Amino acid sequence: MNTWTNTSWRAKPIQQVPEYPDKQALEKVEDQLSGYPPLVFAGEARNLRKHLADVTEGRAFLLQGGDCAESFAEFSPDNIRDTFRVLLQMAVVLTFGAKVPIVKVGRIAGQFAKPRSAPMESLNEIELPSYRGDIINGIEFEESARVPDPERLLQAYSQAAATLNLLRAFATGGYAALDYVHQWTMGFVADSPEAERYKDVAHRISEALDFMRACGIDPASAPQLSTTELFTSHEALLLGYEQAMTRIDSTTGKWYDTSAHMLWIGDRTRHPDEAHVEFLRGVENPIGIKCGPSLDPDELIRLIDVLSPQNEPGRLTLITRFGADKVADYLPALIRKVESEGRAVVWSCDPMHGNTLKAGSGYKTRPFDRILSEVQQVFAVHQAEGTYAGGIHIEMTGQNVTECLGGAQAITEDDLSSRYHTHCDPRLNATQALELAFLLAEGINEERAEAGKVAADG
Ligand code: TRP
Ligand code: MN
Repeated sequence: MNTWTNTSWRAKPIQQVPEYPDKQALEKVEDQLSGYPPLVFAGEARNLRKHLADVTEGRAFLLQGGDCAESFAEFSPDNIRDTFRVLLQMAVVLTFGAKVPIVKVGRIAGQFAKPRSAPMESLNEIELPSYRGDIINGIEFEESARVPDPERLLQAYSQAAATLNLLRAFATGGYAALDYVHQWTMGFVADSPEAERYKDVAHRISEALDFMRACGIDPASAPQLSTTELFTSHEALLLGYEQAMTRIDSTTGKWYDTSAHMLWIGDRTRHPDEAHVEFLRGVENPIGIKCGPSLDPDELIRLIDVLSPQNEPGRLTLITRFGADKVADYLPALIRKVESEGRAVVWSCDPMHGNTLKAGSGYKTRPFDRILSEVQQVFAVHQAEGTYAGGIHIEMTGQNVTECLGGAQAITEDDLSSRYHTHCDPRLNATQALELAFLLAEGINEERAEAGKVAADG
């Protein structure tokens, strides 16, 4: 294989690349960005790799979630706070269910670029270039908005920086204290139409916290109760931006993409001989690969060879996204191949992208039941194969939107139009996301009880 440099991807075939009318303006912006401060520190990305190594070995669980696409229009402190809050609430419930630490990774502070299945979009017989995410062009259905604009890279950088700044403040400044987070969840349980279902787990968490406090384990004696760690991630799609943010870490002499802690590669750009894989193979960050029905098991091994030649646990997370109706057909073959080749990976489940459908009203949506069903099937498949279902990857928001069907609020097709705000795919709202965590926690608990019973029976 040829030597990697931070520009070697430029010589490879590339998919999903926007056509900038003014190449010089783009170069100027990329140049400018490459002199800006890193958004994350390489040491943090190494810490995440260590945490993900724990997940690979079954000692932790990965929770990755956030917007499908962040937008400039929805940028606000309340939005950031609400997404962070729901992720933490989910994390508490899952910690209790899984009885292992939850590694929290946001699709946030940089999730701006979107791969599109068609280069053009049409509406009322007018055809325009597709919207590719706020870092590239505008969502307004107007010719001028759809022209890729390099200045957007700078705006994305500054939004990511401000978002990360607030998240760091929340994570360590007292907002993430376990007691508070659980208080919010008790509020949710009190208001939920399906409260009865979740009360039991919620009360058991309360009791565990009371018990700890009585034993003298409180924020004063155990500071880890008041703080947490939230890592950032996004799809590494706009490679000019990623290259500009990629630097040599002075402590190790290795390359890190400092735009986020973790980067993933999409189902549409994961060809082993093309630009996106070329770029990511040279950076030391933890890397995710989206795995959909079109991924052949042999090709996956080739990809793993390129992206993780040392086979170090923590480097690679496979994010499977088949759809509730396909997962049973496709996942076992991938698992068997990866296992028989002895590759160390985190298996994470994205139950969103294989379960998108168009409602009669024309809205893109996802039924909560199918999302839950995919996760449950993934857990069952891993159990049958003797592998560890290590995480979930979801599209969610802290806002009370109506984009996915169902859940305890029983959102119907008619409800979709009332608060449908996403810039791309339909997201779970705050209630649906937390509900998913409760339902999984119940499931994980049952699984553990089963496993314990089998062990006790001999
Ligand atoms: N520090 C621990 C952790 O991050 C415990 C913790 C504190 C926590 N606040 C939290 C866990 C909020 C989940 C959510 O895991
Ligand atoms: Mn999406």
